[in-house]
Amino acid sequence: MKFLTQFLSLALLTGCVVMTSCSSNKETAEQKPGIEKTVYGQLPNGQTADLYKLHNAAGMTAQITNYGGIIVGLTAPDRNGKFEDVTLGMDSLAGYVKGTPYFGALVGRYGNRIAKGKFTLDGKTYTLAVNNMVNHLHGGLVGFDKVLWNATPVEGDEPALKLTYTSKDGEEGYPGNLSVEVTYTLQKDNALRIDYLATTDKPTVVNLTNHTYFNLTGGAKRDVLDHVLTLNSGNLVPVDNTLIPTGKLMPVAGTPFDFTQPTPIGKRINDSTDTQIKYGLGYDHAWVLDGTGDSLKLAATVFEPTSGRVMEVRTTEPAVQFYTGNFLDGTVTGREGFPYKKRYALCLETEHYPDSPNQPNFPSTVLRPGQTYKSSTVYQFSTRKE
Ligand code: BGC
Repeated sequence: MKFLTQFLSLALLTGCVVMTSCSSNKETAEQKPGIEKTVYGQLPNGQTADLYKLHNAAGMTAQITNYGGIIVGLTAPDRNGKFEDVTLGMDSLAGYVKGTPYFGALVGRYGNRIAKGKFTLDGKTYTLAVNNMVNHLHGGLVGFDKVLWNATPVEGDEPALKLTYTSKDGEEGYPGNLSVEVTYTLQKDNALRIDYLATTDKPTVVNLTNHTYFNLTGGAKRDVLDHVLTLNSGNLVPVDNTLIPTGKLMPVAGTPFDFTQPTPIGKRINDSTDTQIKYGLGYDHAWVLDGTGDSLKLAATVFEPTSGRVMEVRTTEPAVQFYTGNFLDGTVTGREGFPYKKRYALCLETEHYPDSPNQPNFPSTVLRPGQTYKSSTVYQFSTRKE
């Protein structure tokens, strides 16, 4: 009897009902960081793709499939603590297989463009697929965004998903067997970290990135023109009308490309007097990041005033391609059949400069046997009042 009385008072104190899971315990269980695997679907070749849901103690989730290493969903809280998805994405694997403009995907071997799909390395010329006007874009016809990666979930306070893929010598025209390892980690501090590693058995070129389309309103409620952007960059990589770098750098001061101070994205995006804006149909350019060294440095800060969401992007890369979804035209219908229209998202693709294999003055993207390609980027979410 004494034990029963003690048990009941303990249960009352903690708000629990006898022998069933009490609500406070349930909440604790739901907040426990972890990673769950489910079958995502079958690819046309019969292979099975899986979906991994990572969640941290704060309640943030990242859903990632091993098909293309695609971030299928990513939630972040608004200033009232409401978690909503901050990316564009599809409802099913079939949607991704049918084709998207690289929503959430891992991009490789070469993120961005290589002029005319050709480059020369150690005296040998390599020919790649031409899949973007006259140029090669994002690794070719079947880039890293369209292959099935091996996945290993890593449990812990900061759950992670390790993805590996071996790109064969000659794949999409690139030389060397390239072993790639990409790890997504959902950190305690509401940040998604991406670490890239690669090694090769022949000299080759590598430039890996992730192509997530962000819209911080949550649920892509409207375009991103009111998002306020700051870029840690005083120089742009100007391009020609096929979006290939001219080879020179352009100071951003006094141009629509100056985001050194927080500026709404829409403020100058339609400045038709600017040749670079005309070529990109808005922003679709690489900014050279200020500061040097291999450590993570702040590249960009994005603030969405209505939700209060802030995203900070840190990277070890020398540049960031800022793309404002200029080619979205509503023909791709995403989650819940929602048509993704022009400028409904922004990408901040951390990478080396476009067309570096053909530009001797740009930082090199060559990887040789015995060397290890290393790159890291962190997308961190927080909120601000105003
Ligand atoms: C490119 C855009 C392209 C988009 C989707 C971006 O990285 O810079 O020009 O339309 O990717 O492929």
